[in-house]
Amino acid sequence: MKNTKLINEESNIKKHKKSVFFRLLKYAIPYTHLMALGILIVLVLTYLSLMPPQIVRTAINKYILSEDLSTAEKLTGISQQAIWFLLVSGGIFLFEYLSILVTTYIGGRVVYDVRRQLYDHVLKLPMSFFDRHPSGQITTRITSDTQNVQEFFTSVITSIVNDVFLLVGVILMMWNISSRLFLDIIYIFPIIVVAMAAFRYFDIKAYRAVRTGIAKINAYIAENLAGMPVIKLFNAEDYKKKEFDAINRELYKARMNQLYVFGIFRPLISFLYYLTLSLIIWFGSKYILGRALNFGDLYAFVSYIDTFMRPIEDLSEKYDIIQNTIASGEKIFALLDEPQEEQGNEDGKRDVTNGVIEFKDVWFTYDNKRWILQNVNLHFRPGELVAIVGETGAGKTTIMNLINGMYRAQKGKILIDGVPINEYNIHQLRKQVSAVPQDVVLFSGTLLDNIRLFHDEIPEDKVYKALEKVEALEIIQRLPKGIYTEIVERGKGISAGERQLIALARSILFGAKVFILDEATSNIDVETERRIQKAVRELSKDNTAIMIAHRLSTVVNADRIVVVADGRIAEEGKHLELLKRKGAYYKLYEIQFAKEEIA
Ligand SMILES: Nc1ncnc2c1ncn2[C@@H]1O[C@H](COP(=O)(O)OP(=O)(O)OP(=O)(O)O)[C@@H](O)[C@H]1O
Ligand SMILES: [Mg+2]
Repeated sequence: MKNTKLINEESNIKKHKKSVFFRLLKYAIPYTHLMALGILIVLVLTYLSLMPPQIVRTAINKYILSEDLSTAEKLTGISQQAIWFLLVSGGIFLFEYLSILVTTYIGGRVVYDVRRQLYDHVLKLPMSFFDRHPSGQITTRITSDTQNVQEFFTSVITSIVNDVFLLVGVILMMWNISSRLFLDIIYIFPIIVVAMAAFRYFDIKAYRAVRTGIAKINAYIAENLAGMPVIKLFNAEDYKKKEFDAINRELYKARMNQLYVFGIFRPLISFLYYLTLSLIIWFGSKYILGRALNFGDLYAFVSYIDTFMRPIEDLSEKYDIIQNTIASGEKIFALLDEPQEEQGNEDGKRDVTNGVIEFKDVWFTYDNKRWILQNVNLHFRPGELVAIVGETGAGKTTIMNLINGMYRAQKGKILIDGVPINEYNIHQLRKQVSAVPQDVVLFSGTLLDNIRLFHDEIPEDKVYKALEKVEALEIIQRLPKGIYTEIVERGKGISAGERQLIALARSILFGAKVFILDEATSNIDVETERRIQKAVRELSKDNTAIMIAHRLSTVVNADRIVVVADGRIAEEGKHLELLKRKGAYYKLYEIQFAKEEIA
């Protein structure tokens, strides 16, 4: 089969799976110094967070329970410790603020960089990429996937440093206060860690199931509300009710599961915490009675147990974020690794001078599965207006897409002025070979912006001249603000035909030599139709002009008609000639154009 020869583009996804993490970290390289500062701040913060229990411990041991000091001396000492405590708390406040400031800045910058890089890349991807990927998916990559990356840089990296150091610090502190008491309760710690990890694991699983359930219900309801007439017409209510019950039950079960997980693990972790406290009180009190430990020590020990729980809980939470980030990073890099559009000859010096176009045995497919154009041979030259006709789906627009380099033919040659199309710089080519699509999209901005495409250096009188040439000036002058009319919602309020005229004027302004117009299939008023035809006819005198025709009037006026059928050129000739031949054109004429003639 011919198809098996075609290149398969889908291979480079997942190639970089392992290095995703390191590739992500690379984005932080420009901010290394800030990263280092952030970590330093976090280290100070960790150190400060370990201090309060020690201060209280000193206050209790050295002053409150002292047997040698006078009450006045005790009070002075205690107030000293209190002030100390206050200062440390202030320090914690300050450094926490600084660490949030620095990490938020780094995360914000990184995600800004990633987004910019992604969008730059998307702009340079070939049309075939956009055929394969829904726009929603691309949007998600640029918006929410990058958001996950931001979270990674703002909350994960510094938190992990904080948590790990805090954990080590707490353990050292407890060991320092009383290694005996520490060893008495040490076996509880792994149990707490395991319980916490298990809780996270089941919690994430349950949470995801609930999310999926909600998404399913949403999708189901949306689809079925849209299809309500069908449900009613076909008496499908009972069936739909059962269908919904099943989905609803699934969500109910997922939700219950989530509650079970919480129901079991929350109390379990609390119980482990209180168990640890009981053990500390049990052993600690014994040591106090035996005078091996002071009351202040016991207090500090209990405080550190509180501090111990925090990083463990935090770390298990961060693990989830890391997983999300890796998943998002994978998708982001898969997009970044998509090959960009071929730019053609980089120097961009080659110009389309005459506009002679030749197709030589051209074969083309969009999806590597089905040939859309087969063995197409065509010839266009300046001074001749050619109409391309054919049934819907025959491949007319596809021919246009090949001429302006939106897609590349897999086999055969397309020559412009005798030079293969891929030897032109792609941007130069599109300037000089102008294609006006069936449905012209206008961007937000004024009409003027749209015509000179935000090139403010082009003077307005040139714009007016171009508009005049396609007889679009009157149409625009009818608008209350004329050329300064603000475009809303892709050009609402300006008809399809008028938008095509505007696009034609734009092509003239940018010095096109070849004009291809894909006639709008929607209704166009007679006046606009006449203007378009006249404009194209006018342009065909000095340029190459091609009309993809959906109207009889266009066809009849053309110098030559090319009939496309099933991706092949079926016939070529003038209107009457082709009618006489009673071939493909005749059939098409009978089906499509004759009814226009009657009407
Ligand atoms: N981006 C695409 N990806 C995959 N297939 C496509 C794509 N664009 C068009 N096709 C398919 O290629 C064939 C030719 O499409 P094309 O748009 O060239 O038809 P057309 O002759 O312009 O039709 P119409 O008169 O309806 O505009 C159709 O079968 C269509 O389904
Ligand atoms: Mg088309």
